[in-house]
Amino acid sequence: MKFFVDTADAPQIRAAMEMGLADGVTTNPTLVSKTGRGFKETLAEICEIVKPGPVSAEVLGLEADQMIDEARRLSDIAENIVIKIPMTSDGMKAVRTLEEEGIRTNVTLVFSANQGLLACKAGASFISPFIGRLDDIGHNGMGLVAELLEIIENYGFDTQVIVASIRHPQHVKEAALLGAHIATVPFAVLEKLFKHTLTDAGIKSFLADWEKVPDKTF
Ligand code: G3P
Repeated sequence: MKFFVDTADAPQIRAAMEMGLADGVTTNPTLVSKTGRGFKETLAEICEIVKPGPVSAEVLGLEADQMIDEARRLSDIAENIVIKIPMTSDGMKAVRTLEEEGIRTNVTLVFSANQGLLACKAGASFISPFIGRLDDIGHNGMGLVAELLEIIENYGFDTQVIVASIRHPQHVKEAALLGAHIATVPFAVLEKLFKHTLTDAGIKSFLADWEKVPDKTF
């Protein structure tokens, strides 16, 4: 299973790399705005940190021609840029053209199995179901992931599922149990994956007992 880091924050991405948990990065306009830095300089730095891992950067245009133009300019920033395209009919036109040109796409804001199927048929390299946002409105985000994986398996699509909008460690575990290709995880959730109260308690008691060893040299 691959882990992407769902952030545009370069120090967090470096830290995730050191933990061996950054096979790639996903960004969106909200995450870029949080950095307070320019779009291009931010992307260039992130691409350098995680190369050759893919870095998703989102287009802003809503019409296919605008998306294609933005995507071509974004893909000039670095070889490992992947273009995030929203799940619309114009978006799928853009995906078809870009993938034919060898520019990889990640279809974002996927909330239904049919949307995912259309993105696979358009030839998207990645699709991003936003499971946390579905859970937020009382739907079953992980159920959507299961459906998408089944559809991909049924027809042998090359598209990989990026489980996105992850809120907590349980989401990561469930994505792994379903065999999702990738989870894009916020840094705060990555840190939580290491934690267990019994691990902390075990370390504490071992260190306390170590104090009772008469000769500690080794
Ligand atoms: O990768 C998608 C993600 O950034 C959306 O997460 O928490 O805004 O639903 P969230």
